[in-house]
Amino acid sequence: MTFNEELEIKVKYIESVIEKYLPEEKGYAKTVIEAMNYSIRSGGKRIRPLLMFEAYRLFGGEDDIIEPFMAAIEMIHTYSLVHDDLPCMDDDEYRRGRKTTHAVYGEAMGVLAGDGLLNYAFETACKALDKLNVIAGADYNAMTIARAIGILASKSGIYGMIGGQCADIEAENLEPEQVTDKLIRYIHEHKTAALIENALMIGAVLAGANEINLAKMERVGHNVGLAFQIQDDILDVEGTFEQLGKPIGSDEKNGKTTYVSINGLEKAKADVEALSKSAVNILKDMGDGNEFLEEFVIYLVNRTN
Ligand code: IPE
Ligand code: IPE
Ligand code: MG
Ligand code: MG
Ligand code: MG
Repeated sequence: MTFNEELEIKVKYIESVIEKYLPEEKGYAKTVIEAMNYSIRSGGKRIRPLLMFEAYRLFGGEDDIIEPFMAAIEMIHTYSLVHDDLPCMDDDEYRRGRKTTHAVYGEAMGVLAGDGLLNYAFETACKALDKLNVIAGADYNAMTIARAIGILASKSGIYGMIGGQCADIEAENLEPEQVTDKLIRYIHEHKTAALIENALMIGAVLAGANEINLAKMERVGHNVGLAFQIQDDILDVEGTFEQLGKPIGSDEKNGKTTYVSINGLEKAKADVEALSKSAVNILKDMGDGNEFLEEFVIYLVNRTN
């Protein structure tokens, strides 16, 4: 099987996991639930649940206890996009090839759908606890799950993704020379790398990886996440709407200083490559080995969507 065939099968599996955990559209809160499902069902590359699943396998994980967490991280990621696209943030009309959630359901429902996804992510992750009694003889306990939920919370919060989004928005109003290399790194490390670290660390924790390997997985997530956001900034300049399913030139429109505007396209591309290679080097010799995960990290560098 080629890498692309394997990837396709895995993404289909992830879609089925996400679908299993989506809320039913009924009752007086039906509209917000429809808006939540609209945003999460519109596709996307699903890289965070995929990275989580592969990290779990890297350390020998075999149970479905990982599944509620895979759905949960995609809910958090999707909420971050729904809010990122709001008129008060990046003000974008298209996402994943469709109208953004606020463009379809209105701004208030856009805010609520994001809030809804964030909370529902934690309700979903807690469903892992229901599986404890079913997985006979497995090496899990409630403490392991609690630790994974703690990682899910903190990497998405003010010391993670939200912190990065805060600095990203404030940087729009700074003079270009005030947006230092250090600040851009902080923004990338938090708004994007934190959720990638989140995914890899939860996979590792649930599979019982030791503390040294957990720290290594955080490092891998940092490098992959940084590379991923630099590539996103590159594609905002060089990509097409057809490939990306979201508007290009969004950063320029909002007066954002990006990794590309500071360092130029060439250095940005070289750094993406170097960061990904270093991530792969850390991954080698860890756990049971996972060739697909290594290939996937390289695939992310070469992506055009
Ligand atoms: C977009 O993330 C936001 C960034 C952190 C760059 P993705 O590129 O993973 O978006 P989807 O989920 O595939 O739509
Ligand atoms: C968004 O970064 C990161 C998060 C949503 C946390 P961008 O604003 O660059 O993402 P896109 O380009 O809109 O997907
Ligand atoms: Mg943004
Ligand atoms: Mg944006
Ligand atoms: Mg972008």
